Amino acid sequence: GALTGGAYGVTFAMVYRDRKLSNVGELDFRNPVAVPRLLEPEKDDRGRRHFTLKARTGTSTLIPGKKTPTWGINGPFLGPTLRARRGDTVSVAFTNGLPETTTLHWHGMHLPAEFDGGPHQAVAPGEVWRPSWRLDQPAATLWYHPHPHGKTADHVTRGIAGLFLIEDEHSQDAGLPHTYGVDDVPLILQDRAFHDDGSLSLRGVSFMEELAGAGSLGVLGDNIFVNGTHNPHLKVTTRLLRLRVLNGSNARVYNLGLTDGRSFHLVAQESGLLSNPLRMRRLQLAPAERAEIVVPFEPGEKVVLRSYPPDLGVGFPNGRLDGGEDTFDLIQFRAGKTLRGSGEVPGKLPGAPEPPTAPGSAHRRYFELSGIQINGRSMDMNRIDQVAPARAVELWDVQGIDGVPHSFHVHGTSFSVVSYGGRPVPARLRGLKDTVYLRPQETVRLAVPMPEHVDPATPYMFHCHMLKHEDQGMMGQFTVVKPGTEGSAPRRVRGGH
Ligand code: C2O
Ligand code: CU
Repeated sequence: GALTGGAYGVTFAMVYRDRKLSNVGELDFRNPVAVPRLLEPEKDDRGRRHFTLKARTGTSTLIPGKKTPTWGINGPFLGPTLRARRGDTVSVAFTNGLPETTTLHWHGMHLPAEFDGGPHQAVAPGEVWRPSWRLDQPAATLWYHPHPHGKTADHVTRGIAGLFLIEDEHSQDAGLPHTYGVDDVPLILQDRAFHDDGSLSLRGVSFMEELAGAGSLGVLGDNIFVNGTHNPHLKVTTRLLRLRVLNGSNARVYNLGLTDGRSFHLVAQESGLLSNPLRMRRLQLAPAERAEIVVPFEPGEKVVLRSYPPDLGVGFPNGRLDGGEDTFDLIQFRAGKTLRGSGEVPGKLPGAPEPPTAPGSAHRRYFELSGIQINGRSMDMNRIDQVAPARAVELWDVQGIDGVPHSFHVHGTSFSVVSYGGRPVPARLRGLKDTVYLRPQETVRLAVPMPEHVDPATPYMFHCHMLKHEDQGMMGQFTVVKPGTEGSAPRRVRGGH
């Protein structure tokens, strides 16, 4: 069973140390990094932007000399990058060509719960799911992935994930690089573990993880991939390179930096651009967190993006932070002999969204994450845990109390971090987010605007995005209702038992 409190934290730290990764000096970066194909929508007869997506099985060469059975969308592994503009009405035909029921969740999207693609929008093998919604949120790098209850880690690990870029009237003339695949490049960071026959390991296998029991981390892979490419490089042709970085891993936390110590600018959080780009040297990303950074280059140089030991906030009894030797290379950048464009990152990004603030009278909610539960309860598909009035900005206090790091995500909205561990928000966490890293024991206070789409019968999710925690029950459901009707709203999901 699950261990609790400090013992659990120590166990976590030992698991993480057990799975520490160091490939420094082992890579020659020989493979050109794959850039997911940009899928521009077709206009349908109602003027909607239409995307056709099909999940399917396939075979991929992920590591040299091995054939790996994988899943992907419109291809054998991962999926295309979708792009559309604020104001567009989007429609999707998603065909499940997999042998199992799955879902397709639009992570970070503000949309009605019935189109969210969470565990209630199951798509059986051979079926087609057709969500449609109006894009009405700031430019951002969102992503999509399956969300079948209890199976999310499996389906993501097998290869279903991709990006969804929203552009708006400010994003294309903000002075940031924006030519997809040239100076605006996605980096989907994922770790994988393999069996000897080349197949993917879908569960954590170490002794320490078995000991940690129900709350264990799941896979911490010992092979690192960028956009599904192992040992990758990227040719750089411009002085400024914008990277849209997604931590698409099950549980691994990355702490990114460039090997020559150069600084870069953080220009966007998960849910939108930052009004003041922030210069930094290290960027920590927990599972499902995204960031857009702009990196400067000089002609002819080579530099490597490395992950340094993350500050997991987990202590051994002697107080040393975990992650001590967890250092590994992700991708090498190779700048051409001549580089185009200017090297200036704008000091301000006009049109960046205002992060929400909550009024003094804001409704407060508390979320305690422990083991495989939130507030002492495991996920129940039929139970509505929270009912909230549409559009109200609420204050949510979220705390992991089991000594283990978590990555907290809320569906259907974007939030701002109001305080972190009772202290003012570090600059790194300013802006509009949809996922936030929780150091053990620290309370993170969020200002969370409730979605505008009312549906008392269909819940949105809140959960830990360490996928095995989510699958094992560290998830809950909230519905959004007309203000004033919270008291009479159903507490069971319609059609549930
Ligand atoms: Cu990225 Cu509930 O999901
Ligand atoms: Cu967790």
